[in-house]
Amino acid sequence: MSAFFLEAGFLGVALFGRDKVGPVLHFMATLMVAVGTFASAFWIISVNAWMQTPTGHGINEAGQFVPLDWWAVIFNPSFLHRFAHMVLAAYLTTALVVGAVGARHLLRDRANPAARRMFAMAMGMLAVTAPIQIFAGDSLGINTLAHQPAKIAAMEGHYVSYPQGHAPLILFGLPDSEAATVRYTVEVPDLSSLILTHDLTSPLTGLDAFPRDHWPNVPIVFWAFRVMVGLGFAMLGLAVWAGVLRLRGRLYDAPWLLRAAMAMGPSGFVAVLTGWIVAEVGRQPWTVYGLLSTAQSVSPVAAPAVATSLMVFIAVYAVIFGAGMTYLLRLMDRSPEVGIAMAELGPMRAAGVTPAAGLHNKFFAGE
Ligand code: HEM
Repeated sequence: MSAFFLEAGFLGVALFGRDKVGPVLHFMATLMVAVGTFASAFWIISVNAWMQTPTGHGINEAGQFVPLDWWAVIFNPSFLHRFAHMVLAAYLTTALVVGAVGARHLLRDRANPAARRMFAMAMGMLAVTAPIQIFAGDSLGINTLAHQPAKIAAMEGHYVSYPQGHAPLILFGLPDSEAATVRYTVEVPDLSSLILTHDLTSPLTGLDAFPRDHWPNVPIVFWAFRVMVGLGFAMLGLAVWAGVLRLRGRLYDAPWLLRAAMAMGPSGFVAVLTGWIVAEVGRQPWTVYGLLSTAQSVSPVAAPAVATSLMVFIAVYAVIFGAGMTYLLRLMDRSPEVGIAMAELGPMRAAGVTPAAGLHNKFFAGE
């Protein structure tokens, strides 16, 4: 509740309060939004991580899960890995959006100082977070191997076990669960064993070790995983490219880099969505891994009622999302090239308008 109110309250100040509060308070409001979302992410990921790797609970006579050790419930075995991976994913997504907006305005005017700062900061953030994210993703994968081996087998496309190790890394292919094989594979020998077990000969479990009705949908998990990881490496590539050009003093004068940064603008959202598809489709057929199946957790509500509430959700979200997106896209399209000339400050003060408010008014007047 506290996290939600921090977020929601200060988001209003951050978005609409610039002419009502001073620049310091406005900056504080943006920090509070960041703290609020971080705290929200903590609890949301903790709950989801418990469903993936449940610990610290008991089951009462009514068959309900009850917490026995809160610490073990909250800090369950996959929580810290997932929390780090998700928060980094959010920071990366933000950097990519800010970078794309900066790039768009630089393509119009290379000298725009605000766009230059936006682009430089975004590429710097990308250079720090992209490599850490790949490292965090790798350690999350090792954690998943320990706790959800069927999910990892689906991600890797391993229908068969490798008792002697030497499992290949399948880069691409078409998983066929009927025939329990991946067709037309492009693979690197031994690399999956090296990544997951850090040696060549440790045994690696495949889907053949699990009953078929405990398999997730392999093609979806397999492909969603490749999209996420592929985008992660593309983000790293963009960061390295920008870093090299920055060292050569050409960060703002490389149209192809700017175009690539614009094209990569939505990629963080795509990586986040495919990441969640891996996590959630990969968890099937379980709601709480190994304990409560999805079929068991279906609530006894008639299908028409579920369909109606789903339609209402879709309609409400379409309106809210549509309005939010329109507002954000309009903001992004405005040139950040707004400043106040010293000569304008005196008359503004005399009229009782703060510099921040004046800036805001000019911004929205499109000057
Ligand atoms: C490039 C290397 C990457 C690797 C090796 C990697 C690995 C993983 C693994 C193993 C999972 C967990 C599956 C599970 O056990 O449930 C996962 C989930 C996820 N990934 Fe990635 N990932 C990478 C890049 C990215 C990027 C670039 C983003 C987003 C910007 C991202 C966002 C997510 C999200 C949102 C989830 C679901 C969160 C969760 O499971 O708690 N990943 N990733």
